[in-house]
Amino acid sequence: MAYLVAEPCIRCKYTDCVEVCPVDCFHAGPNFLVIDPDECICCGACEPACPVQAIFSEGDLPEPWGEYVGLNAELSRRWPSITHRKPPLPDADRWKDVRDKRSELDLG
Ligand code: SF4
Ligand code: F3S
Repeated sequence: MAYLVAEPCIRCKYTDCVEVCPVDCFHAGPNFLVIDPDECICCGACEPACPVQAIFSEGDLPEPWGEYVGLNAELSRRWPSITHRKPPLPDADRWKDVRDKRSELDLG
């Protein structure tokens, strides 16, 4: 059981989560972040840090986003590590309230 990043992060990438992770287990793609489930120690620090509530423990993940468990595991092996906050994506504030953004996910 680990924490994971779900759909609200897509096209936002605020990266506040990265700053608080004690074990640097976030990885960044073009418009989404993921958590390496093998590195996450389930401290929970990242969950309240995300301004769009994109982060969940696996047990609390809303059912429609079940696919994101596998996406975090798979994409964290492909995407580079990110350890410091970066500016959000340019249109982040426009996308933060958009629902059903799965089709916007850029797999890089
Ligand atoms: Fe990092 Fe803790 Fe979040 Fe896991 S739960 S990704 S260890 S901050
Ligand atoms: Fe994404 Fe939220 Fe982190 S938008 S980059 S999960 S702070």
